[in-house]
Amino acid sequence: TRTQVAIVGAGPSGLLMGALLHRAGIDNIIIEQRSADYVLSRIRAGLLEQTTVDLVTQAGVGGNMLAHGLEHHGFEISFNGQRHRIDLQGLTGGKSVMVYGQTELTRDLMAARSAALLPTVYEAAEVALHDFDSTAPRLSYRKDGALHEIACDFIAGCDGFHGISRASVPATAIQTFERVYPFGWLGVLADTPPVSEELIYAQHERGFALCSMRSKTRSRCYVQCSASDTVDQWSDARFWDELRLRLDPEAADRVRAASSIEKSIAPLRSFVAEPLRFGRLFLAGDAAHIVPPTGAKGLNLAAADVRYLSQGLIEHYQEQSAAGLDAYSAKALRRIWKAERFSWSMTRLLHQFPDEGGFEARLQQAELNYLVGSTAAMTVMAENYVGLPLE
Ligand code: FAD
Ligand code: DHB
Repeated sequence: TRTQVAIVGAGPSGLLMGALLHRAGIDNIIIEQRSADYVLSRIRAGLLEQTTVDLVTQAGVGGNMLAHGLEHHGFEISFNGQRHRIDLQGLTGGKSVMVYGQTELTRDLMAARSAALLPTVYEAAEVALHDFDSTAPRLSYRKDGALHEIACDFIAGCDGFHGISRASVPATAIQTFERVYPFGWLGVLADTPPVSEELIYAQHERGFALCSMRSKTRSRCYVQCSASDTVDQWSDARFWDELRLRLDPEAADRVRAASSIEKSIAPLRSFVAEPLRFGRLFLAGDAAHIVPPTGAKGLNLAAADVRYLSQGLIEHYQEQSAAGLDAYSAKALRRIWKAERFSWSMTRLLHQFPDEGGFEARLQQAELNYLVGSTAAMTVMAENYVGLPLE
């Protein structure tokens, strides 16, 4: 088989890449090691920046998102028993964000892809990348026992943090930067109305908590947990009790416990690989970087990478210009590091750090107090949260 762009991974990055390339008349095949149902079963991000909403719409896949997504003009920060609103719209000159789950977005992208009869290989084993430092890269994989090979012009490595693309690059050609946080997030999805109309990010001495949602009747909530905790240590009752303890009294009163549809623990990590291009292999999304989830940037950053990379590929095919592809790595990394900085600072501001003492705890309180009393500080938070402009 031959294609123009071979895409590794059918997460949001790979699927969005495939949709944008298809719109521009560029052939692509997606190779995914899991089943479509497995990909959809992972409950992850829930919040889209306007630039992500625009990109999904431009890819022709925005129908359900625009019909069912919830537009949010602000969010709240809770500490010391009180909530404080960050007025995103007022502080950013009218910008907002949209609550629409990664699962729903992925499902929409998958449906559009199969309706357009575009090739996606699920449950591909032993995926391997070959000769991406030449002009004739190849991808091989095993499916139902048989070995297959795809010849292509370019490989888009959209296969997440544990994927094969980044791992295929020689260690001498890549540099990585990493910070692992000494705690995780326990997330619960449940059919119970959201605690509040807007998201609540809570700082508390028992640990961080977040009340988010997927719809007017479905909640997605998180509590900071120990890095060594396991899901079976957390009954539904324990989760809701702990969430209540970390919220201000008014919000705590509105928590309605319900049985979980999904419950999982995610470790928190910051990670960046540099560069993002190795000959004819490009990394995008979680394959290239990880942010801790506190700033809701993971999926949005992936979408921005895909926008830059798809533009570069389109310029290559339509204008015979290498400029976009040559600029991709440096341009994407500038945005990535800004999102890394914001996600790190939101994480520091709102979590309990078990290894730190009273000095850092007092600084954290001072920063929260400063934030809610300063329009300048709230503006910094708001303009990062709604998403920095694309270059
Ligand atoms: P992924 O979604 O990881 O997709 C990569 C795909 O590649 C997967 O389907 C995988 O099966 C496939 N793949 C892997 N290896 C291979 C291989 N060898 N061959 C072929 N295919 C392969 N972000 C937020 O903003 N908010 C959140 O609350 C949040 N929660 C998260 C919770 C967890 C547990 C995780 C892991 C991430 C979370 N994120 C969150 C981040 C967000 O979900 C990611 O940034 C987003 O999924 C990135 O999309 P992606 O397509 O780049 O990678
Ligand atoms: C959600 C996750 C986040 O990490 C975040 O900052 C906001 C919302 C969510 O899953 O809804």
